[in-house]
Amino acid sequence: MTKKENRIFAEISIVVPTYNEKENIEILFSEIKKAMPSNIDYEIIVVDDNSPDKTWEKALELMTNTVTVIRRVNIKGLSTAILDGILFSAKKYVIVLDADLQHPPQYIPKLLAEAVEKDADVVIGSRYMKGGGVEGWSKTRLLISKGASLIAKLLLPSTRGLTDPMSGFFLVKKEIVVRNKEKLNPYGYKVLLEILERCKPNKVVEVPYTFKPRLYGKSKLGAKVIVEYIIHVLKLSGWRPFKFIAVGAAGTVVNLVTLLLLKYVASPLYLDYFFIGSAIAIEVSVLFNFALHETWTFKDRLYGTRIRRLALFHLSVFPSAIAQYISAVSLRYGLSINPIIAQLIGILIGFPINYVFSELGIWKKKA
Ligand code: GDD
Ligand code: MN
Repeated sequence: MTKKENRIFAEISIVVPTYNEKENIEILFSEIKKAMPSNIDYEIIVVDDNSPDKTWEKALELMTNTVTVIRRVNIKGLSTAILDGILFSAKKYVIVLDADLQHPPQYIPKLLAEAVEKDADVVIGSRYMKGGGVEGWSKTRLLISKGASLIAKLLLPSTRGLTDPMSGFFLVKKEIVVRNKEKLNPYGYKVLLEILERCKPNKVVEVPYTFKPRLYGKSKLGAKVIVEYIIHVLKLSGWRPFKFIAVGAAGTVVNLVTLLLLKYVASPLYLDYFFIGSAIAIEVSVLFNFALHETWTFKDRLYGTRIRRLALFHLSVFPSAIAQYISAVSLRYGLSINPIIAQLIGILIGFPINYVFSELGIWKKKA
């Protein structure tokens, strides 16, 4: 049996963003040539940001009719380079490749075959699925990579279920990028996240590969990239954790105001029967928070029935509600602490649990 990548007929643009990659580019081109079977029609698009080492000049020297060199003099940045390359490309599929041979070109036909066979909009080269790997990374870099992936999964539903949404090695159907180009905001380094969230690809598949050590030169990803990454994910999420915090703060006020109201309209519930008043105030704030999450925080994710979400929300706030209830009641009766302060302490303890449950369990992604 021939391998499936030798049986498909397809075309692909290979976009290579470069910044100071002069020593790598020639080897990269020859590796690509070696890797591409004759049944695949391809072009290479180098997008160089006027590298001081004159990568663009070297690329021009190597130019053939399958190679295009874009030299950008006024714009800088990996994401805009990749997007410019994709928009310039002429083929149905586009694949993005580091110039330093960390993404081995031998995998290109595999990713393309997967796209064609499964009619996928996006195919991700994954380091973290079975069969994939990373060579030559320190424990720290691996930890940062995994941590970043976890943050993405918490905040961005489109990344859940994927093993490597942070990959720089991915293939995309050009058409979905063109169709959504106004929505794409090329901030930071992770173009793939941007595409997953904003282009709403119909089908995303992953193919394992081994990320190799860089051939020559050094990585352009520094500490600044980590901060940019977190801002990027927050932006893509529509600043959801901050919305959640705002709702929590408003809910806290509602909780305490309810208690104060009871003090004036039903004072026993505030004093002798505080154990009932406290519970009432908690429930009122739970309902208030739920209404705001439904209409604001998670308004684009109302899947399933409302009653189910309401029940699940109660379940998810249960640990925090119980924590605040027990602390409020025991502080009140045990230490005679002011009911308002007792109530407040419990609220603060329960907040993070409430958030994680809401993200992952209630307003989750479309089934
Ligand atoms: N045009 C252009 N402009 N190219 C750039 C720029 C830029 O500002 N910054 C970096 N590049 C090029 C590099 O020359 C290289 O070909 C590629 O983009 C990736 O940059 P690296 O510096 O090699 O990044 P890395 O290897 O540390 O990170 C890789 O892995 C990450 C996943 O862990 C990249 O593939 C990232 O995109 C990926 O997220
Ligand atoms: Mn690299």
